[in-house]
Amino acid sequence: MMRYIAPCGLAFFAILEVKRGCWKKFFDIQRVECTFSNVKDNQGPSAKYASSDITWLGTPLEEMNRMPMCQNYQPPLMPYPNHTITIRVDKLQENVVPIPYPASFIDTWDSTYVKMPSSKSNMYPVDDHNGVKALGSRWKIIESSLRSSITNPHDLKVMEEAESTHLFKSILPDMISLALKLPKLCTKPIPLLKKKMNHSITMSQEQISCLLANAFFCTFPRRNARLGKSEYSTYPDINFNRLFEGKNPRKAEKLKTLFCYFRRVTEKRPTGLVTFTRQSLDQFPEWEKSTKQLSRLHITCKGTIEGNGHGMLQVDFANRYVGGGVTGSGLVQEEIRFIINPELIASRLFTEELDANECLIIIGAEQYSEYKGYAETYKWDRVHEDPAPRDSWQRRSTEIVAIDAFHFRHYLDQFTPDKIKRELNKAYCGFFREGIEPENLSAVATGNWGCGAFGGDPRLKALIQLLAAAETGRDVVYFTFGDKELMHDVYRMYSFLHRKNKTVGEIYTILLNYYYEVCRNASTARPETKLYTFIHNSL
Ligand SMILES: *[C@@H]1O[C@H](CO)[C@@H](O)[C@H](O)[C@H]1NC(C)=O
Ligand SMILES: *[C@@H]1O[C@H](CO)[C@@H](O)[C@H](O)[C@H]1NC(C)=O
Ligand SMILES: *[C@@H]1O[C@H](CO)[C@@H](O)[C@H](O)[C@H]1NC(C)=O
Ligand SMILES: *[C@@H]1O[C@H](CO)[C@@H](O)[C@H](O)[C@H]1NC(C)=O
Ligand SMILES: *[C@@H]1O[C@H](CO)[C@@H](O)[C@H](O)[C@H]1NC(C)=O
Repeated sequence: MMRYIAPCGLAFFAILEVKRGCWKKFFDIQRVECTFSNVKDNQGPSAKYASSDITWLGTPLEEMNRMPMCQNYQPPLMPYPNHTITIRVDKLQENVVPIPYPASFIDTWDSTYVKMPSSKSNMYPVDDHNGVKALGSRWKIIESSLRSSITNPHDLKVMEEAESTHLFKSILPDMISLALKLPKLCTKPIPLLKKKMNHSITMSQEQISCLLANAFFCTFPRRNARLGKSEYSTYPDINFNRLFEGKNPRKAEKLKTLFCYFRRVTEKRPTGLVTFTRQSLDQFPEWEKSTKQLSRLHITCKGTIEGNGHGMLQVDFANRYVGGGVTGSGLVQEEIRFIINPELIASRLFTEELDANECLIIIGAEQYSEYKGYAETYKWDRVHEDPAPRDSWQRRSTEIVAIDAFHFRHYLDQFTPDKIKRELNKAYCGFFREGIEPENLSAVATGNWGCGAFGGDPRLKALIQLLAAAETGRDVVYFTFGDKELMHDVYRMYSFLHRKNKTVGEIYTILLNYYYEVCRNASTARPETKLYTFIHNSL
């Protein structure tokens, strides 16, 4: 691996050791025609249903609410004490790059706002000519080391010359200029979205691209210490340094996906806005008393949340540090979403770890790349032209909600009453919107939330999400990612409960009974009676 150590000790790394030609496809790629469908093949249906052609059940997808159709009125964009806006709202216009607000950089350096690399307070010890340590401006060092670091592309023997030349002559220099525009573009202090805060930040896609270019070059101060109780230890990593470490081939694919983004935003400045909202609820339903009925369900073994759930509330199966391992080696649902819609990554700069009663809602993040595969088999595929229409705030009408499932180390733990409630409340927080009528809420597009490494049971998680959606009056579109058996099982359970007019409270009570009667005294790691069998037998 090639590694540049800038003179200031600020290290940034050039490129991974990749097989010759691996980058060729990336650099050869021409703009591809827009293909909006992104339906992935099934990963092999189970034997039981192999002969069945059924790929979806329930309410037809066309009947589900989507934005912007279901909410035709939007209040004008205006700053509030709980809404920070970093552009000139009076100059906001379709297809015009928004103007940063205020006109010049306001330098803050405290615990309320993101500490910016370009702050005067971002100091670094330097040797003056007498050998005495003095404090220098770190931004000056960043500027000079970034400007000088690209003069010698021939050092890179791991890549074909043409590819390396393209990266070093075009993409990286453009990224460096973008990063160095920081004090001109990001003039307004960015508040930290801390625990217990309800607060929104609306920024331009261009400002976000500049923040991300800085993250790429690892310029954010105080964000590299991982040990102990450092200043930002309750925040996700933002600097990309871990992405350049090691020889994991996944990281090369992640970098390709990110370079696709940087190439596009530097070729043509994006014109939209993105809003990040932390929602912290302090009141939750009394689940056992709820008389709400189940809402509608469309369940399918085909398609993906981002490919088929346009205009819906799309669930990010999040880590409590939003973005999870996106700046490291992670590459499952959340990380993939964060690299194909990289503007999501900016949330890591200011979103403190989510508590059980909190979520992060992101409206307007654009999809720049298409991909194939998953985890080990993930591959950057091609450029994606995002067809999502813009709302009156010039945001792509794509709403994503980060909700972090609990990480269950033992299968049975998830059936305990406190954990059932924790997951219900978390999903409820993600789906709840203050003051919006159910008829104006989009359907929830989701799937096996917290069911991979986090140990969740998909059948339980499907029910929990159905209950939370019912409580907020939203319909559910559930993607089983190729699992036909799960599609049939969940649909059968849903129609059974629906036919019997079971309320949210009644279903919740059965879940608790399952714990008391089956799980609490189970002597095996998995209970003998399965959840759905128990529910059938109870009614
Ligand atoms: C909510 O939906 C109803 C029915 O579709 C529609 O008539 C109404 O205008 C919508 N309200 C808003 C604020 O968009
Ligand atoms: C901010 O406050 C306004 C009223 O002042 C309210 O309508 C809005 O929902 C609040 N936003 C958030 C994110 O809490
Ligand atoms: C956040 O806003 C919700 C309404 O959207 C409100 O119920 C809750 O109390 C607020 N939380 C805090 C911590 O103010
Ligand atoms: C469920 O409710 C519907 C209408 O509310 C009613 O027609 C039906 O008889 C009820 N079914 C049962 C099993 O209670
Ligand atoms: C399960 O164990 C508890 C004690 O942990 C006991 O009180 C209860 O009677 C047992 N229930 C069943 C159904 O065996």
